Amino acid sequence: MLCRTSEELQALVDEAKRCTVKGKVADYIPALGKANPNDLAVAIHYPNGECTSAGDIEKKFTLQSVSKVITLALVLMDRGPSYVFEKVGMEPTGDPFNSIVKLETMALSKPLNPMINAGALAVTHMIKGDSVKQRLERLLEFVRELTNDSTVFYSEDVSRSEFETAFLNRSLSYFLKQNGIINEDVEELMDLYTKQCAIEMNSLDLARIGVVFAMDGVDPISGKQIIPSDIARICKTFMVTCGMYNASGEFAIKIGIPAKSGVSGGIMAAVPGKFGIGIFGPALNEQGNSIAGIKLLELLSNNYQLSMF
Ligand code: DON
Repeated sequence: MLCRTSEELQALVDEAKRCTVKGKVADYIPALGKANPNDLAVAIHYPNGECTSAGDIEKKFTLQSVSKVITLALVLMDRGPSYVFEKVGMEPTGDPFNSIVKLETMALSKPLNPMINAGALAVTHMIKGDSVKQRLERLLEFVRELTNDSTVFYSEDVSRSEFETAFLNRSLSYFLKQNGIINEDVEELMDLYTKQCAIEMNSLDLARIGVVFAMDGVDPISGKQIIPSDIARICKTFMVTCGMYNASGEFAIKIGIPAKSGVSGGIMAAVPGKFGIGIFGPALNEQGNSIAGIKLLELLSNNYQLSMF
C-alpha cells in the first residue's frame, strides 16, 4: 500500500511545494487573503483507521467549494435525486466556477451542475429545516459525523468576510430566484451558504471525509452507512466530471481520482475502495485549484498507479 511512512509522504510534499511560488492565494474573499501561500499539508486516511500525513496538518482551513459535495450528499438524502435534479443539472461546464453566463443562455436556465456556484446555491437552498440556524446545524452535524469530530464548526471571520463581499453570488441567486429555482430570501441563502463554505477543519478531518466517500458511504471504523451507496456514487461521479471546475478534464486524464477543490486551497479526494486524501495548499492556479495540491496528487497517482481509468 502507498506511503506507509510520513517520511515517504514528506518527500512528495517537499517536491510539490516547489510550485507554490507559481500560485496565488485567493483574496476576493478578503479573509482568505491572510493564508500563507507556502503552506502544504496532506493526510491519507485508510479504511482500517490508519493515517499517514505530512506538512502542517494541524492547520485549519475553511472548506469553501469542498462543502458543495458534502451539501449535495445531505440534500440528496433529504430530497432524493429526482427532486434535486429537476432543479440542478448533471453536466460539466467549461466555464469558471462563478460564471453566470449559462444561466442566461441555456434554454432551461437551470444551473448545469451542483459543483459550480449557481448549482451549489440551489443545492444549499434545498437543505431541509425551518430556519437558517436549523439547516446549518443539520449540515454541521452531518460533517461532524463524517469527520468523527464533534467540535467541527465554521469560521465566523471567513463567513462574515464572504457575506460582506458576495455580490456575484447574490447576482446568481437573484437569477435563480427569477427562474423559479429558489424561492427563499436571498440574504438568508447568502447567510447559510457563506457559513457552509466557512466550515473549518484540518487535512486529517478532510481525509476522513474522503475515506467515507471512497468506501461508498460507509464509516470505516463503525461500519455505519453514513451516506447511501447510490448517493456516494453520484457525488463521486460529480467529483470526477466537475470537481476541479474547468480543469476537471485535464485532472481526470493526468490524475484520475474523484476529487473536490475549494478556493481556500483544500482538496478532498476519494480513491475508490482504497483511501481518502485531505490536502491543504492555499496557493492557487488560474482555475482556483491548489497548485501544489494538484502537483502532489499527480505525484501520488503516478507513483502508485491510482488512476481509476
Ligand atoms: O462561493 C464562493 O465563491 C466561495 N465560497 C467558494 C468558491 C470555491 O471554493 C471555488 N473553488 N475552487
